[in-house]
Amino acid sequence: MLAERTTRIGVSPTMKVAAEAMRLKAQGVDIVDLGAGEPDFPTPRHVSEAAHAAIDANFTKYTTNSGTDELKRAVCARYKADYGVEYSPSETIITAGGKQALYNAAMCLFGAGDEVITHMPGWPTLVEQIKLADATPVVIRTHAEDGFALHAESFIGAMTPRTRGIVINSPGNPTGALISETELARLADEAAARGIWILLDLCYERLIYSDTPHNLPGVLAARMKDRTVLCGSASKAYAMTGWRCGWALGPAALVSACNALQSHSTSNVCSITQKAAVAALTGPQDCVLDMLEEYRRRRDQLWTWLAAEPRLRVLKPEGAFYLFIDVSDFLSPDGIRTTADFAQALLDEAHVALTPGEAFDAPGFVRISYATSLGELQRGAERILQFVRSVEHHGRAAAGA
Ligand SMILES: Cc1ncc(COP(=O)(O)O)c(C=O)c1O
Repeated sequence: MLAERTTRIGVSPTMKVAAEAMRLKAQGVDIVDLGAGEPDFPTPRHVSEAAHAAIDANFTKYTTNSGTDELKRAVCARYKADYGVEYSPSETIITAGGKQALYNAAMCLFGAGDEVITHMPGWPTLVEQIKLADATPVVIRTHAEDGFALHAESFIGAMTPRTRGIVINSPGNPTGALISETELARLADEAAARGIWILLDLCYERLIYSDTPHNLPGVLAARMKDRTVLCGSASKAYAMTGWRCGWALGPAALVSACNALQSHSTSNVCSITQKAAVAALTGPQDCVLDMLEEYRRRRDQLWTWLAAEPRLRVLKPEGAFYLFIDVSDFLSPDGIRTTADFAQALLDEAHVALTPGEAFDAPGFVRISYATSLGELQRGAERILQFVRSVEHHGRAAAGA
């Protein structure tokens, strides 16, 4: 009854626990929500003020489909300042979040018969978008043992004559892992030689805690700018998830195709949002650093609390705002069998919402977002510790039942 393409994609499994958490909250249950994939901070004041000014000035009409020239220039200037790469407005499109930037690029570059390599555990949308473009996702796996590092050789080993593109998310959701410049350079040399595109999902690019060099745009610009797409977003860096503003930078011909696609689907991003994004990108950047420092404090504190339980195997992420925890020690055939069950039991019994690893193709793991206050994190950590320490009893109870 529905079009065939709808059978290829599914709603993210993260939704089930999130919907249940919302239902319980609405009933007045005291839920500690560690599921959110978005900053808890308010949008910086100077950004919101720019939006108010836009409304007052009646800047409320359609803009150019691909975004205002002012905002495109602001994006280009930001990437020039941060990475030293040169892009012009004709190589820039403003999109409804990083998600649409990635979607446009996938739809304009990939098609039937193409293979596109990406990595898991990872953000499920990347795989779903490849499928929506009628291409075949080829997934390489990263591993907790080496911090979920992305290795050029794994990507290269997955290349075939049909490989058309590679999609990399760094810092990664849910692992927080970065691809190193050296690994990306090695991969780019191989991709360039084979005419393969590289799409970078840089959604968390401003949220990096380590001093690991991360000039990925520079690495690609030096080797294969003609087959590079940079997808970025105001969402996480400036606490602007609801405003829906992202961008893609790439060769003018690709940007022009993305523009055509967008012109027949969503058209321009909200005019007011675009004014706000200009303020975000060109205004003082201390707000980004202040939020980063607060995330760092939360990461370190939450890690310390949870690492007190050795069966919770917790890595300290290099970027983003998630702890990705191996909880497989608490799973058993006669107790809690899967991490989806773990998340449900934790919600039912301890009233803590988090995201099960199945959502990221990583059964055995759970994702905790620390984009919430330290107070909430402490309450959450206490409940989680109490819950996991009671889990052995679960197994016995289930076996006896
Ligand atoms: C890895 C990753 N990429 C891209 C996005 C897209 O975010 P937005 O569309 O809000 O820019 C997200 C959002 O959660 C994400 O986790």
